[in-house]
Amino acid sequence: MSPFLKLLVLALTTTICSSYSTSSITMRKGRPSAKKAMSSLSKNANSPTTSATSIPSNWKLIPDIKTSQLPDKDGEITLIDTNLDGIKDGAVNPTGAICCASFSGKLYAFKVNCSCCQVPMNKAKILPPPETGLLEAPRLSCDFCGSTFNLRTGEPVDDATKSEGAGGNMLGGMVKGLMKSRGRKPVTVYALSSDAKDRVLISL
Ligand SMILES: *[C@@H]1O[C@H](CO)[C@@H](O)[C@H](O)[C@H]1NC(C)=O
Repeated sequence: MSPFLKLLVLALTTTICSSYSTSSITMRKGRPSAKKAMSSLSKNANSPTTSATSIPSNWKLIPDIKTSQLPDKDGEITLIDTNLDGIKDGAVNPTGAICCASFSGKLYAFKVNCSCCQVPMNKAKILPPPETGLLEAPRLSCDFCGSTFNLRTGEPVDDATKSEGAGGNMLGGMVKGLMKSRGRKPVTVYALSSDAKDRVLISL
């Protein structure tokens, strides 16, 4: 490795370590069943009703966002600002931004930054479940470091390979190598739903 590259990796790692926060990447306990996350927004059967009093307390309406603003093409990722307490995070995420992704007609939502390299994942790859194995959920592959996650649960899974279309580049791979020694952390995921007025709800 050239001295310049070494310095770059060092600088990057230092930044990552100082902005590394365990609480922001811990899976939330008591979130609603994964089924909700899997339910397509176009099907309203399982969705909370419009009446504010009947929306369970863990479902929050995302202000000013309509279902038409969410991605609908396979692999498409859209950043939306939820402006919700519980997602907003001081100066690092003042608008409560999250990533929304679509795959096989289902919607998924997750924290913007990769839990491994902390790089925003709005350009990440959404990959189908692996051909073999028990994993049935699509996968999220960080475009910078290639870390791969179960899109439904956020749990880290075996990294997807380049031939499967995984993200990642050389520098990201080095950062991942450095971060891996700290253990693999899940990415926080959120369940989305909608109401009859095409407003979007998120489970917190
Ligand atoms: C995510 O990464 C971006 C770009 O590096 C950074 O500005 C932002 O503060 C990070 N967000 C969080 C929540 O760490």
